[in-house]
Amino acid sequence: MKKTNRLGLLVVVFLLNLSFSGIAQNKIVIHADQPGAKIDKAIYGHFAEHLGHCIYGGIYVGEKSDIPNIKGFRTDVVEALKDLKVPLVRWPGGCFADTYHWKDGIGPKSERASIVNVHWGGVTEDNSFGTHEFLDFCELIGADPYICLNVGSGTVREAAEWIEYVTSANESPMTKLRKQNGREKPWNVKYWSAGNETWGCGGNMRPEYYADLYRQYASYMRAPGMYKIVSGANGSDYNWTEVLMREASRMMNGISVHYYTVPKDWNKKGSATQFDEATWFNTMEKTLKMEELVTKHSAVMDKYDPNKKVGLLVDEWGTWYDVEPGTNPGFLYQQNTLRDALVAGINLNIFNNHADRVRMSNIAQMINVLQSVILTKDKEIVLTPTYYVFKMYNVHQDAQVLPIEINCGKYNSADKSLDAINCSASVKGGVVSITLCNLDPVNAQDISFEIQGLKATKISGNIVTASKINAYNDFGKKDEVVLADFKNAKLTNGQVTSSIPAKSVVLIQLQ
Ligand code: AHR
Repeated sequence: MKKTNRLGLLVVVFLLNLSFSGIAQNKIVIHADQPGAKIDKAIYGHFAEHLGHCIYGGIYVGEKSDIPNIKGFRTDVVEALKDLKVPLVRWPGGCFADTYHWKDGIGPKSERASIVNVHWGGVTEDNSFGTHEFLDFCELIGADPYICLNVGSGTVREAAEWIEYVTSANESPMTKLRKQNGREKPWNVKYWSAGNETWGCGGNMRPEYYADLYRQYASYMRAPGMYKIVSGANGSDYNWTEVLMREASRMMNGISVHYYTVPKDWNKKGSATQFDEATWFNTMEKTLKMEELVTKHSAVMDKYDPNKKVGLLVDEWGTWYDVEPGTNPGFLYQQNTLRDALVAGINLNIFNNHADRVRMSNIAQMINVLQSVILTKDKEIVLTPTYYVFKMYNVHQDAQVLPIEINCGKYNSADKSLDAINCSASVKGGVVSITLCNLDPVNAQDISFEIQGLKATKISGNIVTASKINAYNDFGKKDEVVLADFKNAKLTNGQVTSSIPAKSVVLIQLQ
């Protein structure tokens, strides 16, 4: 074939590609004229377990500590979480929840039972942070509490009494006890789940057995406006969702699913900070698996709940690496780099885009454990790259999701490739917010936007990025990864264009 003919053929193939994809390369169409489901602010929820230094040292240091505190809660942490607008906190676990007997954690602290935290390092748990402390903490940071009941080693009576102690305004032995312990008025706790990972650390049950047990617990889980949650599937165990939806959907408001991004495998997960580009690629690829999980669990739920009354709640997600060298392996302490910022941005975009079914998510975990937003060491505090992504994405809380069409370039690594851009958009109060992740660690993506239904006159933006893929913030050092203004989005004669830098998470707002 002559050279010119070959070139002609290439051009035809290119044009055909464009027309098959519907929109031009590197174009994102946002349907601002078709607002969809509300992005429940609970999608921006957190998880705090009695594990390592999440509670003790992270949230709670006790009133006698020389670390500045408000009634025992670290002042710096409280301020940072208020600033983050944390909508919801899940507690006391995790695996810990199914070993937790709530009466050990009420009353005078000197009289509280000390127990062994069997799942997490075998350390002594003195129960100085219990129900009152958790609910006071939630009030302090302005978050809704979400309590996980003990199904694995507890009883229905114990669960029912806990609910009564917390939520009842009536006269009863439990409310009398609560008042003796200093709390006159009940708390308003809407979210309660019956157990955690009942397929694993929460009792190693079969779904059929747990479905019956859930129905029994749910019969005695009573409080005004209660949102009842079923302990859901491990990753892609769609049969778990199938059985629970078939047997118990009429008695639940939400069903959970847990999925962690593990870059390598569970035996050798990989370092949080020392990794190469191939591992970055794997981490992105494994994070994008969340899209498939949410889609397929939703499809199972659609069979039993076509009107989408039951929420899919991703109440544990995040990165899971090898613990930092020299730290207690049972404490799951890991650093947090720019890579974690991308993981957070991608997951939150996926949840936003599925807001019609996904009603809550809880990053694991809030402080000092797995993909934390905050790390503490004695008096010092570090806000992680993940913190800044949550701060940037707050604009989506309770906004309406917008349909989007994306046609972008690929991020190629060795013989594999992924879409370079991951995105979601929402509208609230006339402001359109678009959050974009460029997964490619080397190449920027030049994008033109078509915003249907909005004649924008104002544009602004923010960005989280850094010069290295493994940049992180550390104690006593200047932060390497922060939230900065993004000036690279242009609004010219109503047209929006931008170059999204390599390895970045970006917010563009238009009005
Ligand atoms: O987040 C750490 C642990 O991971 C939780 O306790 C458990 O639910 C999950 O397996």
